[in-house]
Amino acid sequence: SPQKSLAGKRVIVTSGPTHEPIDPVRYLANRSSGKQGHAIAAAAAAAGADVTLVSGPVSIADPAGVRTVHVETAQQMLAAVEEALPVDIAVCAAAVADWRPDSEGGQKMKKDGSGAAPDLRLVENPDILLSLSRHHTLRPRLVVGFAAETENVIEHARAKLERKGCDLIVANDVSQATGIMGGDRNTVHLVAAGSVEDWAEMGKADVATRLVDRVAEMLVAK
Ligand code: C5P
Repeated sequence: SPQKSLAGKRVIVTSGPTHEPIDPVRYLANRSSGKQGHAIAAAAAAAGADVTLVSGPVSIADPAGVRTVHVETAQQMLAAVEEALPVDIAVCAAAVADWRPDSEGGQKMKKDGSGAAPDLRLVENPDILLSLSRHHTLRPRLVVGFAAETENVIEHARAKLERKGCDLIVANDVSQATGIMGGDRNTVHLVAAGSVEDWAEMGKADVATRLVDRVAEMLVAK
């Protein structure tokens, strides 16, 4: 049988949102479903890769044939990703919370009857994509990031490619009207240094299969 395109390769995929605790019963989150990231993990496994999927809290099933590590917070996601190194390819599809509440854990916040709302202080989370791209000793040969934008999609993706130091950005327009966030279809643009590919709208599973093909080609060309 013909050799599969990612046979013998190790791949990490991050997927889903993160949940950042405010107190023991509350958290900050976002609308990521994990559908695109999970589909990429499944497609990489189908292409013969040894896949670790690091997933935030999602309501979809673990993909078959993939090692899935479940986490809640960005800090836990980073730790799980580092645990899975070294890899050949990292695809960061998770919608990691940029900030987390600066709470000491502690007790449930209570209304004190004065009508005053508590101050929610936020601190910056670690950037997983950035730390993989700039890893001093174990940088994956290919690092792929996502850019969920609501305007100037390509321009912002280019800036993100530079700032994060990754090899490819998969950019999509997530403005409400597109229905992409949580939906089953996606329209993406692949932005690399000096090139842009605009892909037609297709199902997230097809985006995943084609992306895995593209990434396998890029790995060979490297
Ligand atoms: O600039 P922005 O953070 O929106 O870039 C999104 C990309 O960065 C995605 O690939 C996302 O998975 C990754 N990211 C990350 N860790 C963060 C924030 C974003 O890996 N803390």
